[in-house]
Amino acid sequence: MIKERKKLIAGNWKMNGSLGSAASLAVALGEGLDHDPALLTRCDFAVFPPFVHLLVVSQQLPAGVALGAQDCAVTGDGAYTGDISVNMLVDAGCSYVILGHSERRQYHGETDGQIAAKATLCYEKKLTAIICVGETEVQRAEGRQEQVVGEQLARALPSTAKAANTVIAYEPVWAIGTGKTASPEDVKAMHSFIRQRLKEQLAEGGNMRILYGGSVKPDNAEILMSIENVDGALVGGASLKADQFLAIANGVK
Ligand code: PGA
Repeated sequence: MIKERKKLIAGNWKMNGSLGSAASLAVALGEGLDHDPALLTRCDFAVFPPFVHLLVVSQQLPAGVALGAQDCAVTGDGAYTGDISVNMLVDAGCSYVILGHSERRQYHGETDGQIAAKATLCYEKKLTAIICVGETEVQRAEGRQEQVVGEQLARALPSTAKAANTVIAYEPVWAIGTGKTASPEDVKAMHSFIRQRLKEQLAEGGNMRILYGGSVKPDNAEILMSIENVDGALVGGASLKADQFLAIANGVK
């Protein structure tokens, strides 16, 4: 019997906004939660601004909304031009890091091995890793989605992953930013496959949160969040508007 997991609603702001708009978005989230404080009892929240906006967001973020980064370096501090270490993220107030987002895999050639190394660094600093997995449109058309996601889980998840330090985000690549969402049947099947694999791989795999991501919007949130083994959402576009982001959380019944 799987213990009831509180839903996590995570907002990936990607490479959008300015210092001013990031701060305003954090303030607007606070106002929205003041208006509807019951949301905080139903969901955990986290937002992932661009690195250079972390500090200004941390100064405005309401209680109950955690701060996270969209990536981290694969090594500790040192001569790595352009990288941001886990130490710096902790210093900036982060408690989460997204790892292996498909945009990092696609545009920066990130590998499952690098994701596992980054996750291990996160665990050492008590940061929770959100490890993203998901198949492309071609892989799904070929019926290989479970094989692809199974391999990503096997390679990107360290054996030290626990329910408290790791969240899985299933994001079919073809559903990200496209307005297409996977059907409830496909989401159910994939999340149950992931749950099975997590149980086989890890002692705490039965309790690890599995988020769905890919064009989650207020009008599809209630259905998606009601699916078995969907423990929250990783939201891109709709997380840039406080009212939409909170309306997604409102879909959690
Ligand atoms: P989207 O992005 O909600 O804009 O599809 C999701 C994500 O990439 O995390």
